[in-house]
Amino acid sequence: MYTFKDAYHNQVFLSFERSPFSKTPRHVWVVCRYEGQWLLTNHSKRGLEFPGGKLELEETPEEAAVREVFEETGGEVENLSYIGQYKVVSKGKTIIKNIYFANVSKLVPKDDYMETKGPVVIREIPEQGIQKNAKYSFIMKDNVLQYVMKHVKRTFL
Ligand code: GTP
Repeated sequence: MYTFKDAYHNQVFLSFERSPFSKTPRHVWVVCRYEGQWLLTNHSKRGLEFPGGKLELEETPEEAAVREVFEETGGEVENLSYIGQYKVVSKGKTIIKNIYFANVSKLVPKDDYMETKGPVVIREIPEQGIQKNAKYSFIMKDNVLQYVMKHVKRTFL
């Protein structure tokens, strides 16, 4: 288990085990790969981030992951693999997210990408300076991204 502070100084706990913090997480985050590159969404308020969000009623985390990728990027998920889970404790509120790796086989152009401006495909996620890069969302600015990218590169690429 890893623990560190996020960009807002909230405590974050990250683990690559199966459901270490909750068997019923309410959020998901999906590291997406499309045609040998990374697939992000450009969130209208937060900026560039891997797609994700909150589970809807009666939805499994895997269903939410597939739905969020499609809603925010138009990406059709071909393969979804569980990676781990993280917990953020912010002002007495705790959120728990499942992390997945997804292979996206197709990008369907859409008129509406919900609260985002749609897909952004990039060859490399910057390894340095992302914390100060205003184009990137705060959720890409803590050590979750660094550990997860290492794990993904080792396991799936
Ligand atoms: P609402 O019911 O819509 O308010 O959602 P929620 O309370 O279940 O969760 P929300 O998405 O609003 O997240 C609550 C807080 O958790 C945010 O203000 C952030 O500080 C923090 N948070 C959410 N997602 C992440 C994340 O991926 N990384 C980090 N570091 N913090 C996050």
